Amino acid sequence: MLALIDATNIVELAYMAASLLFILGILKLGKVKTSKQGNQWAAYGMALAIGATMLLLVTRGDWDPRDGEWTYQSHALAVGAMALGSAIGWWMAVKVPMTSMPEFVAFFNGLGGAASMFVALAEVPRAAERSHTLAFEGADFAIAVSLAVLIGAVTLTGSLVAYAKLAGKLNKSRIGPLGSQGVNAMLGLACIGLAVWGGFFAETATHLWISNGLLAFCSLLLGVGLTLPIGGADMPVAIALLNSYSGIAGMTTGFILKNNLLIVAGSLVGASGIILTQIMCKAMNRSLSNVLLGGMGEQAGGGGSKDEGYTKVKSTSGEELAAVLDAATSVIFVPGYGLAVAQAQHKVRELAGLLEKKGCQVRYAIHPVAGRMPGHMNILLAEADVPYEQLYELDRINDDFKNTDVVVVLGANDVCNPAATNDPKSPIAGMPVLTVWDARTVVVVKRSLASGYAGIRNELFQMDNSLMFLADAKKALEDTITELKAL
Ligand code: TAP
Repeated sequence: MLALIDATNIVELAYMAASLLFILGILKLGKVKTSKQGNQWAAYGMALAIGATMLLLVTRGDWDPRDGEWTYQSHALAVGAMALGSAIGWWMAVKVPMTSMPEFVAFFNGLGGAASMFVALAEVPRAAERSHTLAFEGADFAIAVSLAVLIGAVTLTGSLVAYAKLAGKLNKSRIGPLGSQGVNAMLGLACIGLAVWGGFFAETATHLWISNGLLAFCSLLLGVGLTLPIGGADMPVAIALLNSYSGIAGMTTGFILKNNLLIVAGSLVGASGIILTQIMCKAMNRSLSNVLLGGMGEQAGGGGSKDEGYTKVKSTSGEELAAVLDAATSVIFVPGYGLAVAQAQHKVRELAGLLEKKGCQVRYAIHPVAGRMPGHMNILLAEADVPYEQLYELDRINDDFKNTDVVVVLGANDVCNPAATNDPKSPIAGMPVLTVWDARTVVVVKRSLASGYAGIRNELFQMDNSLMFLADAKKALEDTITELKAL
């Protein structure tokens, strides 16, 4: 009986409970109303998992047979690393503004990949010390180590490239030979060859280090090469895919460490990332291979170039917009990345409240890839307590634009670009967009006529029923609110 409740059993039980909390957390994340609770449950699961692992470390003295002192060293290292990591993570979470959250999520994904890669590489000195192949521990072990190095490294550099693109620090689709499909294919083949050699044939210390070191190096280059050509409007798919990779890499380290919790948690992240990738592909009306292979040239990533080619633009002001809104019985707000930049979510809620008091129907049209991360606009509007019932997904709202008096586009651009529907040569051709131009009047609020993330011209700006309100979204909304109150 006593043996049943020794520390290992307690740890296994805690791992099971943590796995359950992760699964229930994800289930709860599926609904807006329970999502906060879902996040909390998953966090409790993680706290439980860390606590149990610490217990394991304290009680299990035989996991490294070298000597007792080394065990204490590893305790100190683990606690020190956790304290340092937690402090840096806390500082970043507090300091990073909401608008930079997408690139930091990409960055953190990369760290997950790096952790998996290093855990796998840590197996090399063990095998080298005993001069046997990785497969000596079992073929599944060798495959897990090779996959963890490969996928972890691809995730690391792929996420760093995604981070740089989202932050607008990189807009190239090639760096030297990196980024071309031929080079990617060669790197891919090299990785497979090195993984087989490193896992099943290398057994001297030198061969083990060379094969696994080269595998890590080629995989790091492959991550850069695969992500560089993805850009324009296709980045959402890349982010979802990298998220999935980080989960798969974590899962493979679970097999290396024989840790069931890591296998469960990694599988959950991997599977949900794949589902998200599919959702994003559907939102862009693109196939995954099309996104991965169809690089968008130098236009990739960042956007924001000035476009001087518009000749028929009509501009408007807060005073005019207030008058137009005052006469409207139905209004749809279309939030985009610029609304997040301006942090104008509370102002749009205030304006909506004024309109509702006048008996106007107010709704928000949410494009699945508006902003810079999945669900970006939902989070932004939830911050301002916008009622969830007023949020309409693209499929549910597109037919209603034609019966709407005024559409106010707030810092959105690519997600309502008619080129997607009427220019087959456009990089966003075929992507479902919000057909805002069907409304009686469209007012586009943005600071200039510059392009959005995809870096392409938007004919919406000079359509007959369009008015451009060139200002920061928060300032434009403040002006409109003041004028509307004065009416
Ligand atoms: P964008 O097409 O990027 O357009 C945003 C617009 O906001 C810009 O044209 C900018 O014009 C304007 N803006 C910036 N700051 C502003 C401010 N302070 N006040 C008012 N306007 C401001 O955004 P979108 O329509 O939301 O489309 C999202 C794009 O990002 C898509 O191409 C999508 O594929 C891509 N993307 C999405 C994701 C996810 S998962 N959602 C991830 C990565 C990339 P001005 O500079 O003239 O103001």
